[in-house]
Amino acid sequence: MSQIVVLNAGGQYCHLIARRIRDMGVYTEIKEIDTPWEALAGVRGIIISGGPHSVYAPASPTMDRRLFSLGVPILGICYGHQLLAQVLGGKVTPGEVKEYGLAHLAVQQRETILEGLDACETVWMSHSDVVETPPPAFKVLASTPDCPVAAMANPQARIYGLQFHPEVVHTVSGQQILRNFVFTICRCQSDWDPKQTIPRLLATIREKGERKKVFFLISGGVDSTVAFTLCVKALGGDRVVGLYVDTGFMRQGETEMLQETFRRLGILDSVHILDASAEFIAALHGVYEPEEKRVRIGRKFLEVQERSLQQIYQPGEEWLVGQGTIYPDTIESGGSAHAAVIKTHHNRVDIVQELMQQGKILEPLVEFYKDEVREIGLQLGLPPAIVWRHPFPGPGLAIRCLCSREEAPLRFPADLSSLCQTYGMEGALAPLKTVGVQGDYRSYTDLVLISGQGSLEKLEDVSTDITNTIPTVNRVAYLVQARQGKRLRDMRVIRAEVTRARLDLLRQADRMVNEFLQEHDWQSRIWQCPVVLLPLRIEVGESIALRPVSSLDGMTAEYAKLPGPLVIQLAHRLLTLPGIDAVFYDVTNKPPATIEWE
Ligand code: XMP
Repeated sequence: MSQIVVLNAGGQYCHLIARRIRDMGVYTEIKEIDTPWEALAGVRGIIISGGPHSVYAPASPTMDRRLFSLGVPILGICYGHQLLAQVLGGKVTPGEVKEYGLAHLAVQQRETILEGLDACETVWMSHSDVVETPPPAFKVLASTPDCPVAAMANPQARIYGLQFHPEVVHTVSGQQILRNFVFTICRCQSDWDPKQTIPRLLATIREKGERKKVFFLISGGVDSTVAFTLCVKALGGDRVVGLYVDTGFMRQGETEMLQETFRRLGILDSVHILDASAEFIAALHGVYEPEEKRVRIGRKFLEVQERSLQQIYQPGEEWLVGQGTIYPDTIESGGSAHAAVIKTHHNRVDIVQELMQQGKILEPLVEFYKDEVREIGLQLGLPPAIVWRHPFPGPGLAIRCLCSREEAPLRFPADLSSLCQTYGMEGALAPLKTVGVQGDYRSYTDLVLISGQGSLEKLEDVSTDITNTIPTVNRVAYLVQARQGKRLRDMRVIRAEVTRARLDLLRQADRMVNEFLQEHDWQSRIWQCPVVLLPLRIEVGESIALRPVSSLDGMTAEYAKLPGPLVIQLAHRLLTLPGIDAVFYDVTNKPPATIEWE
């Protein structure tokens, strides 16, 4: 039974709230925002999440007002805060300034939900509307210069609202605030441990898979490996077939490593390996847009899967399709009723949605977060090398191989140039777009390239200044080194699509980077390091962008600040690859950029 329920208004960070509370050992579930009050009887606390809407917009998501009669503590965050204000008789207005990022919170009342905080706190904001007047019987606990009611409370009714996001790591006392709510206000018990859910998971798989067989696409990543292993344990090797598809978008040596893992686990016999690289690459012929790439890859997966299933199908058999989908995969694809689509996850393309409606998809890990999946994996006896692998997206290197419909020069607009000059740097607008996330929405906007002298630490200021000042820019990459000391002015974007030759080049670069990070003991200190191929040419080659990030869960991230000399050494190494003309370093956080470029 869930002690805390998070009502999902469609916010990016909704799952993060639940994860944080689960980390405290308190089982927490997510439910749709309009869940009827009867379904919430017995919970100890309710949190209403953020979301991409305005409370005063027609048809914006709202709550069942009878929830208040439960007498359970309620905490509204961001949209949830505004919704509580509106529903209880306060006033919400469009803010004069959109606040995205860090803000300084002046705490006027260090009590109840804000107990134990300092008078001035750093918090993470992501909103445009604001609560102008709190509802009657509420008092203002804290404010920022742009947000008069950043925290409010009605302690008698035990209802609280926060405009900022306590669940995001950048809110320094966020964990303290959530602990205040969960333990002091809601009086929850700490008794949740994901490892102990294994028997329940096995029982659920047996129940759903009764008299059925399960067909699994496995990628070699931790999620699908753990989900597949759970299914084999629950149903036995003869009722579970794993298909590993070599899409041509895999990293170097991936197939061999995977075979070795399954051999060690003693389940290699249940795994089929199929080289479908030619048809996957062909499916991307003439495709330049990231969303189109993702959709085509997702559909191709299903097509190959269906074909393979037909080959092994025996009359009278009923099959389920197994997937290693985890919680965050569903939210970023708009997995809840009110969320905006940031990226179409390959596990959530339309055919999968149809199969889900028919009850033919088995996703044993859909309720878990990455770190919980890792704990389950270790408990199942998976080797640490697999459990601690960096995340690798299902569409693989295809979404790290940027494409361009046409050849075009870089541009040096005056506003960008003068902004960069204040930092003693040069800046160019590349005619390439990449994906980002702003508020709760996806963006697909401009890439800025910068060059000049600067420590990686200092580049954060430049990058933040650029993305804040020029709203059409969501990503900034710093030129570390170019062939023969060439500069941004010597570069141009070339026409390019996903080809085997480009993938091979990217594979070599990716391997080189990963080996380098391993050698220098950085692999375990970062969340992941996508290596991206850019159709950006000086002479005959292309460019590489390094995207090392620190993150807790992939939902937000900071670019990892590797030591400068190390980055230069790595760039020199990459430039020894024929076909690489320049090396860039992505110096953008998430938001406003996403981790993957596409
Ligand atoms: P973004 O780029 O959205 O990535 O900031 C967040 C995390 O998700 C991974 N990612 C994916 N994983 N299939 C996956 O299995 C996908 O389609 C996909 N897209 C992004 C990404 O590598 C990062 O860890």
